[in-house]
Amino acid sequence: MNARPVIDDLSSFWMPFTANRQFKAAPRLLESAKGMYYRSTDGRDVLDGTAGLWCVNAGHCRDEIVDAVQKALGTLDFAPTFQMGHPLAFEAATRVAEVMPEGLDRIFFTNSGSESVDTALKIALAYHRARGEGQRTRLIGRERGYHGVGFGGISVGGIAPNRKTFSGALLPSVDHLPHTHDLARNAFTKGQPSWGEHLAEDLERIVALHDPSTIAAVIVEPLAGSTGVLVPPKGYLQKLREICTKYGILLIFDEVITGFGRLGKATASEYFGVTPDLITMAKAINNAAIPMGAVAAHRNVHDTVVNAGAANAIELFHGYTYSAHPVAMSAAIATLDLYQRDKLFERAASKAEKFESAVHALRDAPFVKDIRNLGLVAGIELEPREGAPGARAYEVFVKCFEAGVLVRYTADILAFSPPLIIEDDQIDQIFGTVRKALESVK
Ligand SMILES: Cc1ncc(COP(=O)(O)O)c(C=O)c1O
Repeated sequence: MNARPVIDDLSSFWMPFTANRQFKAAPRLLESAKGMYYRSTDGRDVLDGTAGLWCVNAGHCRDEIVDAVQKALGTLDFAPTFQMGHPLAFEAATRVAEVMPEGLDRIFFTNSGSESVDTALKIALAYHRARGEGQRTRLIGRERGYHGVGFGGISVGGIAPNRKTFSGALLPSVDHLPHTHDLARNAFTKGQPSWGEHLAEDLERIVALHDPSTIAAVIVEPLAGSTGVLVPPKGYLQKLREICTKYGILLIFDEVITGFGRLGKATASEYFGVTPDLITMAKAINNAAIPMGAVAAHRNVHDTVVNAGAANAIELFHGYTYSAHPVAMSAAIATLDLYQRDKLFERAASKAEKFESAVHALRDAPFVKDIRNLGLVAGIELEPREGAPGARAYEVFVKCFEAGVLVRYTADILAFSPPLIIEDDQIDQIFGTVRKALESVK
């Protein structure tokens, strides 16, 4: 079945965000994928409960995207976008802009979520400088926030292990809002917790401390994914928006996970009815077929930067060789077509209730301390094993994989974010497998 030679040397690939020694002692290898399933190198179908890494929203190896990529690669393998252009870049930008909230229709292309975050932070600084407020350099993130792994992203991010090793080299002018997680008050909430709106008011304290004239932007994930699925309390994002507007601070929503249907709308901004000034995205923008990210900037932000200097001067000294890579662009256009044709965002919305009841049915399973969910995202927080944080969730993850279901874990939290094409029986399979795994670990 497997025509390729067996890989017997795993030593050269230094794996990202992986316990390399542990993995290489007992590897889990995937060799192909279709629809809702991966196929492992030992010939098993594995139901994808995580859309890869929160990114394959339309399901794997969709013919329409594969065809578009193959055609693009054979037509225009690469074209620069520095002082040059190619039609797919402009078409993809228009198509992305069409699904963004009103006004956020200026699109800067990157190759990843991390690059999108650093790009958005730099655009925020450039915007204030263009307005004559170049002293606004402070960036506000949030505890437990994940904004990728660039120096900008880990500086505004709030996940301690991602920062610790690099702490001496983080951006100097950063502060953090408190996170919104409170098990004593919000455990087992279905959807948005009603407690916690006031936590956004901490921004007033930070603004008073540093003075508004020094603050450029606030960046948050509207729903925090990588830290273990933290759903924003009701009213919280609205309050952040109000305070940012009051002080002329740009609000950035990092929608690398929530963008493109995860909550049943094109963006979390649309879902929550809160419009930021900048949106970062990546992953499902082109169904993860080719590395790609983007920043959607409000037209006012774009115009302020672009109209600031002489017409023949470069306005933003920023960009990547692969910004708007033709193959990535073609994948994005095909993906957006597919989302639209198959009404996948609406499909996600229509499956959210079933998903919610299936995950919350695990409330009585062993070690379950909290369950939280919104749209097609859910998290199950487990009691950590004494003296071995993360070990129990890791074992559940391995047992699920062996039983044919891919889940994710971070510390002692299991996370679920399946492709939006998931069927009801597959939802049952995911959570049925998790229950069995929980019942079999110590
Ligand atoms: C909210 C958020 N921002 C940024 C990133 C970083 O994206 P990438 O891994 O593509 O750099 C991620 C990745 O999961 C993310 O969830």
